[in-house]
Amino acid sequence: MFTSALIVGANGRLARNLIHALSLHSSQPFIHAFLRNPRALPPHLAKQCHSVQKGDARYPDHILHALRRTNPTHVIIALGSPSASSASTVRTRSATAITHALSIYKKPVNVVVVSCVGAGDTVVNFGYGLGAYVNYTMRHVIRDHNGQEKRFRKCFEGAKERLLIVRPVALTDGKGTTGHAQLSTFDGKGRTPYCKLDRHDVAHWIADQVCDNTVYFGKCVNLAKAYERK
Ligand SMILES: NC(=O)c1ccc[n+]([C@@H]2O[C@H](COP(=O)([O-])OP(=O)(O)OC[C@H]3O[C@@H](n4cnc5c(N)ncnc54)[C@H](OP(=O)(O)O)[C@@H]3O)[C@@H](O)[C@H]2O)c1
Repeated sequence: MFTSALIVGANGRLARNLIHALSLHSSQPFIHAFLRNPRALPPHLAKQCHSVQKGDARYPDHILHALRRTNPTHVIIALGSPSASSASTVRTRSATAITHALSIYKKPVNVVVVSCVGAGDTVVNFGYGLGAYVNYTMRHVIRDHNGQEKRFRKCFEGAKERLLIVRPVALTDGKGTTGHAQLSTFDGKGRTPYCKLDRHDVAHWIADQVCDNTVYFGKCVNLAKAYERK
């Protein structure tokens, strides 16, 4: 079956990488962008999209409209707030709206939620008190992701295999791997892998999960960079 992915928050840094990664995937999925300001999407990325849907993810009718227009097999939630340290509820509020829209839409859709390490049952643990400091500075984002994850988990209670929650460590730009990225998963309870992860690599990993419908669906996956063998 063909893949058709609706990316919510499509002008974000990870989402832009996702458009690119999906456009390079051998299965040639349909890509639909959902964003507040379509004009802000760079033309070379807009060109890779089969459609660009204007909307605000906090409003169920905007999401429902986009679902009906694009008929996606997958919805990828990659939205966030500009500051990691200030209070935001956009992830939780949009999760409430999106799950509501999905319940009206009724057709089966797979969802990928981009959350972060520190959310759910994970903790940031770098040792020497550094993890506690990061947990504290990130507390607003973590609370927002907790609300987001909770809403999606509840929505997919009877269809867990359709939900993939991805929790990457801190993200970078422009430091991605050429070729296929080597990422590793970790349990999120012990020491947090210190290496940062590039949005380019996370995007390619998510594109593979979406296009190949891998075993990771139904799970929460904590993602870090794989250590290179010397
Ligand atoms: N930064 C990190 O190190 C890190 C680590 C792990 C996980 N994460 C998580 O990964 C996700 C993506 O991060 P990112 O750094 O790629 O994000 P980003 O570049 O800050 O982009 C966020 C995007 O979300 C969009 N957005 C916000 N509110 C929206 C709404 N109501 N409706 C539609 N779109 C909306 C914004 O749209 P506009 O362009 O219209 O403003 C923006 O394009 C976030 O949830 C973040 O918490 C980040």
